[in-house]
Amino acid sequence: MENNRGSFSSNLGFVLAAMGSAIGLGNLWGFPYKMGANGGFPFLIIYLTFVIFCGVVVMCVEMAIGRKTGKSPVLAMSQLGKKYAFVGWFGVLSATLIMGFYSVLIGYSFRYMFGFLIQIFGASGFGGMDGGAFFGAYTGNIGAVVGYTILTFVLCYFIVAGGIEKGIEKFNGIGIPALFVILIAIIIYNFTLEGSEQGLVFMFTSKGMEIAGTEFNFLNACRTAAGQMLFSCSLGMGAMITYGSYLDKKENISKNAWIIPAADTCAAILAGVAIFPAVFAQGQSPNAGPGLLFITMHNTFTSMGFAGNIVGALFYLLVIFAGISSAISLMEVSSAHLIDSSAAKGKPMSRKKAVGIIAGIMMVLAIPVCIDKLGGAGWGIYQFLGEGSKDLLDLYDFVSEGVMMPLGAVLMCLVVGWGKGMDWMADEIETQGNKFVTRGFFTVCVKYITPAMMLFVLISLALSYVGL
Ligand code: PHE
Repeated sequence: MENNRGSFSSNLGFVLAAMGSAIGLGNLWGFPYKMGANGGFPFLIIYLTFVIFCGVVVMCVEMAIGRKTGKSPVLAMSQLGKKYAFVGWFGVLSATLIMGFYSVLIGYSFRYMFGFLIQIFGASGFGGMDGGAFFGAYTGNIGAVVGYTILTFVLCYFIVAGGIEKGIEKFNGIGIPALFVILIAIIIYNFTLEGSEQGLVFMFTSKGMEIAGTEFNFLNACRTAAGQMLFSCSLGMGAMITYGSYLDKKENISKNAWIIPAADTCAAILAGVAIFPAVFAQGQSPNAGPGLLFITMHNTFTSMGFAGNIVGALFYLLVIFAGISSAISLMEVSSAHLIDSSAAKGKPMSRKKAVGIIAGIMMVLAIPVCIDKLGGAGWGIYQFLGEGSKDLLDLYDFVSEGVMMPLGAVLMCLVVGWGKGMDWMADEIETQGNKFVTRGFFTVCVKYITPAMMLFVLISLALSYVGL
């Protein structure tokens, strides 16, 4: 039965897939802005602290759970103890909810990429509208938004249904190197633009707060950094348990646990250096979220003249690579659950069928997000989330990123650190003669430091969503 699940063909394949999961929209539209608006360099230090004391640690815990059990989150957690199965369920639910809005945003990116592509050939890609007007028109066009969302699902379906090695590993093997190449190309181009250094001033110095109109608040910076880190590294919801379950026993988990968050952080910083210098050089103001990725960037590329069409098309291609490589890990978490649980019941379901069912469920969740028009439909049923959060996307995000992921991260650490014990984890990491790199560090973190820091995040993040 084990063989039916598939596996990565090499450690590099695994590392690229895990990096693909981690590097996504979170890096592109969250990190750079949050860094600028929360103090610049001090924020980077706080962020790195969370990466080291929580990110690396939870990454290692998840990969160890996954590889030791060889199962997706629900079955993996229940193998550690029947009563822990709900932690795995949090993961499956988070993955499904996140995909409910993530897919819509990747869909937007397709529309923008096509827009700039056809402009290279002289046609008008955005009906002559500026960034704000086009974004309003596009998000209001439910048919188009749904269509591009479906395109995203179809692509993800084919990749995930293709299997671990022939689908997921193959896509990331091309997508992730391509992503870094495009990122570097855009960065080089940006530095030819006059005034681009302002973008670095925004990101790395306290000037960013002045421009964003925010003040440095240590607590705020901590919770922003922590929430961002978990989401960005795809932690606390079982993506790394799932990918870890396909990793060969001879590979070194504790080493991988350092590499993946490090690559994710580099990508986040590079993303900022690809985005903000251009934004400032073209006289646009920085922003966060969909406004940055679509309105601001659209205006930025438009004001570059013809070259902007090429850079714009490349940029949205980059967003698509980053998005799809994350989306397929979300789809894999829930699909793997169906595959594993049906096999456990003695009625194994084919991968194609399982992925088809999961894609269907995720799409059902995504359609209301399309119809809600980022709050434009005026449903307003989420007002309880507080100011600034007024759409269904925020609600999905709150339940997954704000509640289930931090809770999942704390519980996984506690179950492993206190329930099973560090020898249990070391035993898996040291199989086939591997070294448990920095075991002392991991022991103190898994048992004390990480849960304490994460609990802090969970409480303060939840409070911030309701406006406290
Ligand atoms: N890490 C992804 C990003 O930064 C989002 C994600 C979260 C993907 C959880 C998978 C699991 O955009």
